[in-house]
Amino acid sequence: MFFNKKSPVVSTELDLERIPKHVAIIMDGNGRWAKAKGLPRVAGHQQGMEGVKKITVAASDLGVKVLTLYAFSTENWKRPASEVGFLMKLPTRFFDTFVPELIQNNVKVQVMGYIDQLPTETQKAVQQAIDQTKNNTGMVLNFALNYGGRAEIITGVQNLARKVQTGSLSPDQIDEEQISNALMTAPLAPYQDPELLIRTSGENRISNFLLWQLAYSEMVFLDQHWPDLDADGFKQAISIYQGRDRRFGGIKEDKK
Ligand code: IPE
Ligand code: IPE
Ligand code: MG
Repeated sequence: MFFNKKSPVVSTELDLERIPKHVAIIMDGNGRWAKAKGLPRVAGHQQGMEGVKKITVAASDLGVKVLTLYAFSTENWKRPASEVGFLMKLPTRFFDTFVPELIQNNVKVQVMGYIDQLPTETQKAVQQAIDQTKNNTGMVLNFALNYGGRAEIITGVQNLARKVQTGSLSPDQIDEEQISNALMTAPLAPYQDPELLIRTSGENRISNFLLWQLAYSEMVFLDQHWPDLDADGFKQAISIYQGRDRRFGGIKEDKK
């Protein structure tokens, strides 16, 4: 089955049977987008929020099951207090205006990261959105907020070590499944690992995102800044993904 894009500018044909189930995005380039327009960096974050709305609806329409968005990393606290303060207020603004549309689209909000370290107001906004959308059965919109891949692994390993200490787990029982289940993506089962990682703004690195889960993800790096990515750009990234040959260490099977 093929999907024909309506826009006359670019024609992206997608195989709707091979839409990645879990797409993760490093939403990068808000600051550069603003700078290029002579605006303060926070104007880029504001515009980036509009991008989140567009891409959420596009992903949900395509039948993506989980959309994980890297919104704030454990390293982003290094930024000036004014910028961090603005970013911490964004979830409130975002959910205040967008929850009705999320409900309309049957999208369920989830969050992963060290949420208890966020300002109380931010925690409240996030928790409210989770509660308001908890009965939705469509796409999961999973925000990585105060998330870091290494911190996640440390926490997961500590939890496994505690189980070993209390005798409920033996070291020999620790396998891939045990580790996957100890990570913050465990509630996304059976879609813990993204098939596709997209990063905008031309940076070819993963910046401490989903270190374990990205083991076999296809990575698509786009030049556009995050606020410039629209539904067509998102579909193009999926089209690139569909053109990839995923081998998982095996060999390419002949298509006869
Ligand atoms: C991504 O855009 C948003 C966050 C990291 C919160 P940036 O703020 O990193 O934008 P650039 O990379 O400086 O352009
Ligand atoms: C990664 O972007 C984090 C988020 C998008 C939330 P950064 O802008 O923080 O990454 P670096 O500093 O370029 O590696
Ligand atoms: Mg950046």
